[in-house]
Amino acid sequence: MAASSLTLLSLLAIVLLSASASASNITEILSGFPEYSEFNDLLSQTKLADEINSREPVTVCVLPNGALSSFTGKYPLSVIKNILALHVLLDYFDAPKLHKISEGSVLSTTLYQTTGNAAGNLGFVNITDLRGGKVGFGSGVPGSPLDSTFTKSVKQVPYNLSVIEVSKAIAPSAVLTAPAPSASAVNITALLEKAGCKTFASLLVSTGVLKVYQSAVDKGLTIFAPNDEAFKAEDAPDLSKLSNAEVVSVLQYHALASYTPIGTLKQTKGTITTLATNGAAKYDLGVRTAGDSVSLDTGVDSSRIASTVLDSTPLCIFTVDSLLLPVELFGKAPAPAPGPAPETSPSPSPAPAADAPAPESAASPAPVLSPPAPPTSSPAGSPSEGPTADSQNSTSDNGGGVVEAPAVMKMVLTVSASVVACIFLS
Ligand SMILES: *[C@@H]1O[C@H](CO)[C@@H](O)[C@H](O)[C@H]1NC(C)=O
Ligand SMILES: *[C@@H]1O[C@H](CO)[C@@H](O)[C@H](O)[C@H]1NC(C)=O
Ligand SMILES: *[C@@H]1O[C@H](CO)[C@@H](O)[C@H](O)[C@H]1NC(C)=O
Ligand SMILES: *[C@@H]1O[C@H](CO)[C@@H](O)[C@H](O)[C@H]1NC(C)=O
Ligand SMILES: *[C@@H]1O[C@H](CO)[C@@H](O)[C@H](O)[C@H]1NC(C)=O
Repeated sequence: MAASSLTLLSLLAIVLLSASASASNITEILSGFPEYSEFNDLLSQTKLADEINSREPVTVCVLPNGALSSFTGKYPLSVIKNILALHVLLDYFDAPKLHKISEGSVLSTTLYQTTGNAAGNLGFVNITDLRGGKVGFGSGVPGSPLDSTFTKSVKQVPYNLSVIEVSKAIAPSAVLTAPAPSASAVNITALLEKAGCKTFASLLVSTGVLKVYQSAVDKGLTIFAPNDEAFKAEDAPDLSKLSNAEVVSVLQYHALASYTPIGTLKQTKGTITTLATNGAAKYDLGVRTAGDSVSLDTGVDSSRIASTVLDSTPLCIFTVDSLLLPVELFGKAPAPAPGPAPETSPSPSPAPAADAPAPESAASPAPVLSPPAPPTSSPAGSPSEGPTADSQNSTSDNGGGVVEAPAVMKMVLTVSASVVACIFLS
């Protein structure tokens, strides 16, 4: 009970914290326009919708149904995603602004540019005020045709989100012909080693969990790899005290059975299941976003996502700056002293993993030093489980609010239990 009530509270805190930053929901907006249903479906399938929702200002250049049909049958989803990403401009353009472009022509950065795979000007779109009041769109690559034109405004939320319709897909051949990466061909351990996660990579190999990861890749896999610093941290648990099966669970806990890029994590409300999740044990993770920073809450500790190693549908690899300790294995540790909340991290953007000192784990007093609890058959949510979220000083065994909670949680506790229930059920 304690753990689930606390999880519920942290969940609510997440909802409240993210509410202030809540942007528009592109999926919902476009669902009011059946003529863009294909485009809308593709935004959801590729998870670009989440990316759009987590950014502002942003302009989405939608295409009417049928305009993408020459591509959808012919190219893999990863290529379609790149094409769609070219239709997401990281600036606000509405009709008046399009007709007032200074010098008559501008290059706008697109979401495709943020993938890091765009050579030269490939990640830019050229918007040019043409004669006769027309506005042309084309690839930013010099000499590209401006053969897609602005046809109409669809929806504006000044000056954060603009949805406009364009006549034709912007699909430069270099994007279409770029070799589609084969996820199963990615050498996960090589990537992890290069990203400063050698210890994690060698554990994956020695335990055989790498094979579990590899067999999951094609259906979507997201890996949260603790960097080598995380294993050396003072408060890092001694994995040699765990049984082999427990180490396997810990490693499986560091991955999700879905393609979940950072934009999707930012839009996640509540908890997500991991590869370690099975009928008997939850092994889930809470996700918390503060600005550009995303943290994962295990119920025992909190770990910040430090960098993106790979984001290539259907595989995502992130580094995290401390080990994710599942409450199922580490929940019986003594109540840890309060540590600084992860969202107070001063760096606005994720730091590179390898050389960044792990801010939270370094600054927090050791949350878990004791050996893990012996395996028990008690399901997740048993009263013996440890504190959750921000290393609260829990003195309670029933989650009845006897928790040293931050102000927001205290407030929540007194607000209304029914609100909690509503949000939890929604
Ligand atoms: C956006 O709206 C869609 C459809 O209404 C919904 O399924 C989805 O959960 C919403 N996304 C967010 C982040 O609220
Ligand atoms: C946009 O494309 C046109 C036609 O190719 C070109 O003349 C113009 O310089 C381009 N604009 C920018 C900002 O690169
Ligand atoms: C636009 O974004 C700003 C900054 O995030 C926010 O304060 C504002 O409420 C947003 N406006 C609308 C209409 O959503
Ligand atoms: C992957 O890379 C590692 C080195 O990091 C190497 O030992 C291993 O043989 C590679 N695996 C494959 C299948 O190429
Ligand atoms: C935790 O709570 C106990 C009992 O209320 C108290 O004695 C102790 O000082 C608290 N520890 C911290 C670090 O706040």
